[in-house]
Amino acid sequence: MELGSGVKYGTVLSFLIVILAYWYRSPVEDALDSRLDTVLSSLLRAERKAGMNNFERPRVAVGFGGCVDIIVDGVALLNNMGLQPSSPPLHHDYIQNAEQLVESFSYFFPPGAASERFVMNDTLFSQLVEASRELPGNRWSVGGNAPVMASRMAMEGCDVLLGGSFSSDLTEVLSQHITVAGNTVEEPDIHLIMEYPAGATWGQYTSRRANRYIVHSDDHNPYLASMEDFAQKLQNFHPDLLVVGGLQMMDNFPFKEGEREALLGRLARVMSSVPQETGVHFEMASFVDEGLMGDLLSLVVPLADSLGMNEQELPNLLSLIKRGNITVLSDPNPRVATVLDQMRELYRLVNERHRESGSPQNGRPLTRLHVHTLAFQAIIVTRGSQWKNTMSATAKASLTANRHVCGSPDINPSKAKLILDESFSVSRREGSQRIPLQEDRPVSCWDEDDYQICVAPVLVCTEVFQTAGGGDNISAAGLVLQI
Ligand SMILES: *[C@@H]1O[C@H](CO)[C@@H](O)[C@H](O)[C@H]1NC(C)=O
Ligand SMILES: *[C@@H]1O[C@H](CO)[C@@H](O)[C@H](O)[C@H]1NC(C)=O
Ligand SMILES: *[C@@H]1O[C@H](CO)[C@@H](O)[C@H](O)[C@H]1NC(C)=O
Repeated sequence: MELGSGVKYGTVLSFLIVILAYWYRSPVEDALDSRLDTVLSSLLRAERKAGMNNFERPRVAVGFGGCVDIIVDGVALLNNMGLQPSSPPLHHDYIQNAEQLVESFSYFFPPGAASERFVMNDTLFSQLVEASRELPGNRWSVGGNAPVMASRMAMEGCDVLLGGSFSSDLTEVLSQHITVAGNTVEEPDIHLIMEYPAGATWGQYTSRRANRYIVHSDDHNPYLASMEDFAQKLQNFHPDLLVVGGLQMMDNFPFKEGEREALLGRLARVMSSVPQETGVHFEMASFVDEGLMGDLLSLVVPLADSLGMNEQELPNLLSLIKRGNITVLSDPNPRVATVLDQMRELYRLVNERHRESGSPQNGRPLTRLHVHTLAFQAIIVTRGSQWKNTMSATAKASLTANRHVCGSPDINPSKAKLILDESFSVSRREGSQRIPLQEDRPVSCWDEDDYQICVAPVLVCTEVFQTAGGGDNISAAGLVLQI
């Protein structure tokens, strides 16, 4: 009897709980849905506010490199190759064998941090690519930072000069608005993109957010093989904007003594050859090679007006400037206040270095800084600089994040969620102002010192199609409205 009534009691209770849950949850969810709808329509309105000038297509030159991406489910690939987490997670600057791959993947997969590593073992890399070819659901696409940014800009209405070495069939799939500068190669470099969704499990690990782990074993890209042809065509192209990216292919590459410095020195001369009216943007990436980062800081960063990076790359660059060493892994879901403080500091330090260096010929102050994170987009622009439409550009960057990750130009609110809180603090300093997230005006912009800051929430895609290339699409989309 006791048992029976207990069961009955339990059943009634759980029935009640279900009803209550239904009662309470549905209006809340409705409210959430309508909040999402309002944020979406407001972001779309903000994006449209800065239409591109339709009479003349902006001209953008983008370097360097390119490859074919093979995109697979990372966990499926590892399982298929019989690779399971064994030893503790361990960070490696580059990968020499399967054990290091397993340790390195275990390091980045649980937090869901983007990373990219050079595989110094051709046998292992071929085995990985072969296994990926066999894996159901694999996809091939044109990849590499420069081609992705170039394609996005062509799609948004620009004429593009792209520096990269492609095979002739790859060149054919590029937009007609893209002119390729660089030699034709027989075998393009292949990048293996191991994607994983949030909540994926591998052995004892579960990923906290969707992201990807990339491996490559490039032959052409590290040498910036297209640079000479690009430099030559650049003379007559007269771009409105020069974009430099893809330099992480040089990371931990076994260059001969002095080779890397010579290449970057040549790049610096190409960057200084464009007139001061032409904007120069440098897109950061996953760098772990301190020597390379040091060279970038002294040779490339001082020649850019604009920098783009994600939440990992920002603390990494900042740490290099402040402490002379890098950070391999940072919080993949940082707060707005944390990121804004880091951005202010980076902006200040880079401009201080510019002034202290006596503003050498062709050196440029930093006038634009765009940081893309999962939850929000933030852009700092110097007041009175050449960059236009910062508010709309931030909205467009945010919309592009969803479009890219969900793999569709039309945003479906049922596949999106807001993870930004209802208000955010503008700094971690005590007593800092809080800014509410207003659904009908989701992009918040305000002035500080000599710059404007804009922050927009991202409608985070919940049905991930692809994360790789996200930063490039987002950065390119933001830039298009600012030139
Ligand atoms: C390279 O990878 C292959 C295949 O995984 C492995 O057998 C070999 O030991 C690796 N070489 C080195 C030097 O680690
Ligand atoms: C970087 O340097 C700082 C201070 O010099 C030190 O505290 C920190 O542990 C170093 N970080 C790494 C990853 O080596
Ligand atoms: C991102 O860029 C790639 C390459 O241009 C393109 O194929 C893809 O569709 C882009 N994503 C979105 C959402 O447009």
